[in-house]
Amino acid sequence: AAKDIRMSKQPTGIANGLTNYGDPDFSLYLRRSFARSMGYSNAMLAKPVVGIAYTPSSFNNCHRHFPELLDAVKRGVLAAGALPMEFPTISLGEVWLSPTSLKFRNLMSMDTEEMVRAQPMDAVVLMGGCDKTVPAQLMGAVSAGRPAVMLVGGPMMTGRHRGERLGACTDCRRFWAQYRAGKIDEAEINEIEGKLATTAGTCAVMGTASTMACLVEALGLILPGTAAIPAVHADRLRAAEATGAAAVRLIGSKLTPDVIINSKSMENALRVLLAIGGSTNGIIHLTAIAGRAGIPVSLKRLNELSDTTPVLVNLKPVGNGYMEDFFAAGGMGALMRELKDLLHLDAMTVTGETLGERLAHDSDASRDSWIDRTIIAERKKPLEPQGGLVALFGNLAPQGAILKRSAADSNLFELEGRAVVFSSLADLAARIDDPNLDVEAKDILVLQNAGPHSPSAMPEAGYLPIPKKLATKGVKDMVRVSDARMSGTAFGTVVLHVTPDSASGGPLGLVRNGDRIRLSVKERRIDLMVDDAELKRRAAAAKPAADKPERGYARLYAQEILGADQGCDFAFLKPR
Ligand code: FES
Repeated sequence: AAKDIRMSKQPTGIANGLTNYGDPDFSLYLRRSFARSMGYSNAMLAKPVVGIAYTPSSFNNCHRHFPELLDAVKRGVLAAGALPMEFPTISLGEVWLSPTSLKFRNLMSMDTEEMVRAQPMDAVVLMGGCDKTVPAQLMGAVSAGRPAVMLVGGPMMTGRHRGERLGACTDCRRFWAQYRAGKIDEAEINEIEGKLATTAGTCAVMGTASTMACLVEALGLILPGTAAIPAVHADRLRAAEATGAAAVRLIGSKLTPDVIINSKSMENALRVLLAIGGSTNGIIHLTAIAGRAGIPVSLKRLNELSDTTPVLVNLKPVGNGYMEDFFAAGGMGALMRELKDLLHLDAMTVTGETLGERLAHDSDASRDSWIDRTIIAERKKPLEPQGGLVALFGNLAPQGAILKRSAADSNLFELEGRAVVFSSLADLAARIDDPNLDVEAKDILVLQNAGPHSPSAMPEAGYLPIPKKLATKGVKDMVRVSDARMSGTAFGTVVLHVTPDSASGGPLGLVRNGDRIRLSVKERRIDLMVDDAELKRRAAAAKPAADKPERGYARLYAQEILGADQGCDFAFLKPR
């Protein structure tokens, strides 16, 4: 099956990429003598090297099982005849970073790219899992251009509360909303806290981490059938071992991530994103990954794909199940076979097979071909006839905004309402629960200054809470508009990623309390019903942005950050 893999004639193993002392023979001698200090035999040091980008961290609960996975990867590498050498990179645990993990995704991608390129490895296994780690590693790997295969950590198992299954973190939000609405008391919410995230692994629903795992499989950069294997399942260890062996097979290959990522594999990933009802963050990350390979991702094209791609996967937050159910139901192989006629089957995958060849196998390794149709619907009986995400355009979002329609209330899709504006996250926190807040259920909540150019660096704050005075009256959803993001585990009629963002001078920053905003999902529009002359007047009167940070990563971020339409990558990291 490896017919498309051609060999190159680079030096391999630790002789690769020597440290420069002005005498290459001495450089190799010195490196070998230091490598001997680690107790390797000469026979081991003569082998090609597989690097393993290794991301455990006490600040990343989702990667808690990585030591065990690393052992399995190494076993696979050794048995296939190469020397495994793990190296640390930055790890990003979603709930552990302030102001938000997205701010550091590009830093992790730079760390990964440079360490893959600067150290002597003939291929690399990328071990990621939690939301930002997978896109960061892929962005870095595309830019580094070395043979690479990814291993994702896999999802958590669910917990139980009073007979009900719970999983992070759709249920975290659901119970928190019930607590805010006064339906459950403090004792119960505290009890639930210990039952939401009960094992190692990534969030148990189709949140951002699971979405990214599925997208990497659609892109062909992890082994077939491995996206959904639970973190603590023995199959996860077998997948790790097989990934180590696959990395060895990639040595000398021209099938590098920058080749596997192309316009066809990207469209396949977008189709899958729509069919799984995946996270809105998936759009930003795919755009950034594709951008590293010089491939544009157009939101207009997303809408065309969305019109012709059904939602087939019944997992929270859009449906009912959890990732463990998706795995048991047949996983990504079963889903992509269902979508086969919509996919570019000639796209290459990391095994050297085309996607079509991979899907032609009756089943993925270790499973039969039975499919649980309550979780993975047939094409003729989709959960929804159209895709889970749509892009909106209009004078409020000239370069686009995103709505996860599959997680939204369709009664709110055609609505003109009064804007209730919060000028920042601090303003939102200060006033949203004020009993005197002038707000009604048909109003549109607007959050400004939470985009990529703001000091808060585009946090997952677009899921504005329903004002307490309405929540206690039973209001569950309202139209919310912002330049922020939303957690992949959240739901609601939430318009996100409004671009350009407020902090870069976008029209969202010009909205005032009481303005009328019109949303039409049918027309794919979001408009501010204020005339141009008035908007120009407001723009002219706007205060200049706050001072830019003076030093360090914050300064680099402020100088280089691009909008959501560019995947929030840094300008200087895009290929020339
Ligand atoms: Fe790590 Fe959700 S917090 S995947």
